[in-house]
Amino acid sequence: MSEFDPVIIAFVCNWCTYTAADLAGTSRLTYPPNVRLIRVMCTGMVDPQYVLKAFLEGADGVLVSGCHPGDCHYINGNFKARRRIKLLKEILPRFGFEPQRLRLTWIGASDGVQFAQVMNDLVDQIKTLGPNQAKLEMVI
Ligand code: FES
Repeated sequence: MSEFDPVIIAFVCNWCTYTAADLAGTSRLTYPPNVRLIRVMCTGMVDPQYVLKAFLEGADGVLVSGCHPGDCHYINGNFKARRRIKLLKEILPRFGFEPQRLRLTWIGASDGVQFAQVMNDLVDQIKTLGPNQAKLEMVI
């Protein structure tokens, strides 16, 4: 039996986490290739529908990551994201998804090391949870 290879969708803020991902790459830090980055201008523009669509179309995990509180380039976008993620975690079980599959982090532009650590940790956590049910139903 082959090892479970999760697919993780990461909505990352252009100004902070995306830059940290770039820094991780140029610093030759390694992290699993399971993460598909989607660059957004701010975590505040990540509509909860994007997260649900990712899960329903087979993502095993979703990460939303942006600027630290107080550093958002659009004043309070990351606070909006924090509220939305909190609510999403409450409704995810109704769709059959464990809330642990969704994570919100703050990773600053100079935090390449933290970016790689978060990706490694997230992939390990999702591997522990196993494949999501929507993906299984699509395969059947
Ligand atoms: S600009 Fe980065 S989270 Fe708002």
